[in-house]
Amino acid sequence: MFKKVIAIMTATVLAASMLVACGGSTGASSSEPAAQEAAEPAAEEAAEPAAEPAADAAGEAAAATDGDLSTKKVGVCIYQFSDNFMTLFRTELEKYLIEKGFAKENITIVDGANDQATQSGQIDSFIADGVDVLIINLVNSSSASTVTDKVVAANIPLVYINREPAADEQQRWADNNWNVCYVGCDARQSGTYQGEIIADLGLDAVDFNKNGKIDYIMIKGDPENVDAQYRTEFSIKALTDAGFEVNKLDEQVGMWDQVKGAELVANSLSQYGNDIEVVFCNNDAMALGALQSIQSAGRKVGTDIYLVGVDALTEVVEYVISGDITGTVFNDHFAQSHNAADAAINYITGAGNEHNIQCDYKKVTKDNAQEILDSLK
Ligand code: GAL
Repeated sequence: MFKKVIAIMTATVLAASMLVACGGSTGASSSEPAAQEAAEPAAEEAAEPAAEPAADAAGEAAAATDGDLSTKKVGVCIYQFSDNFMTLFRTELEKYLIEKGFAKENITIVDGANDQATQSGQIDSFIADGVDVLIINLVNSSSASTVTDKVVAANIPLVYINREPAADEQQRWADNNWNVCYVGCDARQSGTYQGEIIADLGLDAVDFNKNGKIDYIMIKGDPENVDAQYRTEFSIKALTDAGFEVNKLDEQVGMWDQVKGAELVANSLSQYGNDIEVVFCNNDAMALGALQSIQSAGRKVGTDIYLVGVDALTEVVEYVISGDITGTVFNDHFAQSHNAADAAINYITGAGNEHNIQCDYKKVTKDNAQEILDSLK
């Protein structure tokens, strides 16, 4: 621990002098950003052991620079403000950045309106404005390399959140020692938990039509997003791994949206009727929409159909308690926003970060829903 504190302090002093020396210059070549070069070797040491949560190091690093953060500018790009989960995320992110010492007026959060061109323009403006760090929730994960290149060329550290860039893109950050990282949770885990919630009910309880299979429909988020891909795949894999036979009746794209979720589930219910035993939704917003349609069709969750989501929105956790939704998976916006802010601070102070910072999802069923609800307040 002592060694780590020394490493962080050394890194802080080193990087602080380099940051002063570089003072807002945008002329550095993208392959050799000077401040990042200086910060990186110390960062590797400060990050030992590898599994150390970023939050720990950040707490110490932030304490070491006391007060300095109030003049630092943070640019935050959110893919779409109307997204329920990202609203919780950005609200908590801003609150925590302020708690850590940033001034509210130096934190600018912008809405990408689900349009990559709009978001790219916002990133250009942040670069022109000389922000000290960028936190970006991409509209399209596939734009990561273009965005990384221009942000690195401007010598600005970058923390990606929520939409994970591809593995080869993350490899580039490591290969080049760039001050770029991703903060999120492994979406495979959330899918697995959804499947397990259903598997734990047992075939007898779920197989209403007694065909020996679990008949389901899948309502997906944005298919460009690994969260949607993995949740779709791993929820079903958990069922087959547990030995169940499955039958997919329908798979539709609801783009994380409640209204679309409601429409799609209404259509599926009118087409497949009582054969639908489980409605899997890649997120809670769509599960809320699904619930409206399930109720309008005269069906009852827990009695003749099951419904699961992901996120643990307050309203959904309340429905899990009342039995109107079977279960959800807590997508920890507290841990993710805090880790993202801590990573941003670590770059500013020169302590550096691992390139991929993960946190865990948590299964939410009737058994622990009250506890989860209390923790959300
Ligand atoms: C997911 C979340 C969804 C949506 C999406 C946006 O992690 O579960 O509700 O917010 O991110 O990328």
